[in-house]
Amino acid sequence: MNELDSLIDGARIAFAQAQTPSDLENAKAQFLGKSGRLTELMKGMGALSVEDKKTRGASINLAKQAIESALAGRRQELVETELQLQLKSEALDVSLPGRQRGLGGLHPVSLTLERIEGIFGSMGFDVAEGPEIETDWFNFTALNTPEDHPARSMHDTFYVEGGYLLRTHTSPMQIRHAVQHVKKHRAIIDAGGTMPEIRVIAPGRTYRVDSDATHSPMFHQCEGLWVGENVSFKDLKVVFTDFCRTFFESDDLVLRFRPSFFPFTEPSAEIDIQFQRGPLSGRWLEVAGSGQVHPNVIRNMGLDPEKYIGFAFGMGPDRLTMLRYDVNDLRLFFDGDIRFLSQFQ
Ligand code: PHE
Repeated sequence: MNELDSLIDGARIAFAQAQTPSDLENAKAQFLGKSGRLTELMKGMGALSVEDKKTRGASINLAKQAIESALAGRRQELVETELQLQLKSEALDVSLPGRQRGLGGLHPVSLTLERIEGIFGSMGFDVAEGPEIETDWFNFTALNTPEDHPARSMHDTFYVEGGYLLRTHTSPMQIRHAVQHVKKHRAIIDAGGTMPEIRVIAPGRTYRVDSDATHSPMFHQCEGLWVGENVSFKDLKVVFTDFCRTFFESDDLVLRFRPSFFPFTEPSAEIDIQFQRGPLSGRWLEVAGSGQVHPNVIRNMGLDPEKYIGFAFGMGPDRLTMLRYDVNDLRLFFDGDIRFLSQFQ
């Protein structure tokens, strides 16, 4: 192999070894640069005869063309490799399953609350909401539960700074709502007229120091209150029976009003239900506390207990949700496990 051929080979090898455009520029300089090897050869031609210059010049030119085309080829290759790398790194796998935007839904207890509101709404009840951080007055005292009353120990209460507490039930809403209602109809009441009846439910979160499979420190209650001039225990029975049968879509559901005690109602009753069909049939299940509003509570509402009378109840929407969907552990509602929650969508 002659000198020029091996020079061309050398250039091809050097270009092939270049892995980046700047490698390639360095390699190019070695052959085609000012002091590159080909340039050196051309400089050496000065000593040749005219005849030799001609042939030598022609073959050096051919070699130069060969090296230049090898360079151009390698350049093109590097550009392509770079493009391929970029395409690869930015590749989209269009066969992958799309990123789903999961459809959200309501929590099972929220579904129950909506259901309760719908049913009582159809019976003419308003919906009221109130604070979860309560005063002693609304949570206990106004509800005929004075400071030394033994009933206060029934609630293991979360007390917070400043004399406040986390409400242990939704019953404070009886007072809060009634006081607002009375204020609104003050003129009628003062004139000796009859105010429109109070008919309200108050759903919301409640808190007690309690935690096991059927108790959670945060749980839900829904209060009900109906006060007028002529509202009796019979009305409570009708309304609550109607509610339970509609809620559970079961016309033969049986209710039992079991005598009980609450400081803010007299008489008081625990309400039990009994399914006639299904896995729970035959068992008595407690769903609410209830009773005729105590005269002292009527008074704290700003009303005359000689004129106004009514009933109240407080039920547990968590319990109702467990019964309706056959869930056996209350804590499942508050764990936030999507596998559990998505079953209700
Ligand atoms: N507040 C009572 C409880 O939490 C329930 C109740 C409400 C009872 C209204 C009577 C009337 O247990």
